[in-house]
Amino acid sequence: MRILVTGGAGFIGSHLIGELLKENHSVVCVDNFDPFYDVEIKKENLKLHSHHPHFTFIEADIRKREELSPVFRAHDFDACIHLAAKAGVRPSIQDPVGYYEVNVDGTLHLLEEACSHQLNHFIFGSSSSVYGERNQTPFSEEDALLSPISPYAATKIAGESLCHVYHKLYGIGMTLLRFFTVYGPRQRPEMAIHKFTREIFEGQELTLYGDGSSQRDYTYVTDIVQGILACLRGRGSFEIFNLGDSKSIALIKLIGLIEEGLGRKAKIKKMKNQPGDVPITCANISKARKFLDYKPHVPIEEGIQRFCKWFLENH
Ligand SMILES: NC(=O)c1ccc[n+]([C@@H]2O[C@H](COP(=O)([O-])OP(=O)(O)OC[C@H]3O[C@@H](n4cnc5c(N)ncnc54)[C@H](O)[C@@H]3O)[C@@H](O)[C@H]2O)c1
Repeated sequence: MRILVTGGAGFIGSHLIGELLKENHSVVCVDNFDPFYDVEIKKENLKLHSHHPHFTFIEADIRKREELSPVFRAHDFDACIHLAAKAGVRPSIQDPVGYYEVNVDGTLHLLEEACSHQLNHFIFGSSSSVYGERNQTPFSEEDALLSPISPYAATKIAGESLCHVYHKLYGIGMTLLRFFTVYGPRQRPEMAIHKFTREIFEGQELTLYGDGSSQRDYTYVTDIVQGILACLRGRGSFEIFNLGDSKSIALIKLIGLIEEGLGRKAKIKKMKNQPGDVPITCANISKARKFLDYKPHVPIEEGIQRFCKWFLENH
């Protein structure tokens, strides 16, 4: 297949492209090297694929339709896997307009291009944050999305709604994937696991927001990638899938696993909870199991060991 991956210079995208190329797909990656984190990391991510004959990189900004149109005109894509976004909950509170422009306007531009070029399948990288603040777990695809608590979550809900509209109006096959906190080698440096690992390793004080009881469903990146690949093989109707590990772990326990992985103790400073953070995430993955044969293979204990090993080898 000829596949467009947006945001492919980033963490999840760079893992995905590696696997797509292994499966003999042709991949065009669009990314604008957003400076949210060190651009050199993204350039290194791309170097992993740059030698591959079926890989093309195009520096383009999804906020600018005029930069996307030539990409769609030049390549007859079978599918688009849309991962480009401003990611992260807390920074979205400081920059809601910037998040809206990339995550909503940018998504709309891609959908317009998808429609003009009669794309068969559009896969949208959504987020567990769309479920917002709720006490009842696990979160299911059928739950109503009425309680987002960050601009980031609201932009992902808006992106999902637009995908639904373009499916209904133009028949584009749509798969919406709600990723539950993804981690693994090359994880974004500001994300909790990577940040805590760096701080513990460097002997810095680590800031823990809340009392450490908040829980997250962490998903190893290779499991997420397997879920995305399974969608490509799937049907072109409209489907939403949770991709998670379906187990939640308290933040304080997570820090303990990182301490074990590094063989060092954390110096912890506790601060009050941050706005935008939800108390718990946990995915019901029975739909993904049934239709995608999705099975997460890497439990958190093993994933953190692997992450720490990668960190120690690359820091
Ligand atoms: N990592 C997670 O835990 C997680 C969880 C849920 C959802 N997601 C979603 O998965 C996707 C990938 O996340 P990630 O962790 O790999 O993030 P990332 O920041 O590493 O990757 C996103 C990429 O998008 C690019 N980008 C940003 N703005 C752009 C623009 N205007 N035009 C073109 N490219 C642009 C960035 O340069 C970056 O390379 C995002 O849509 C994110 O919202 C991630």
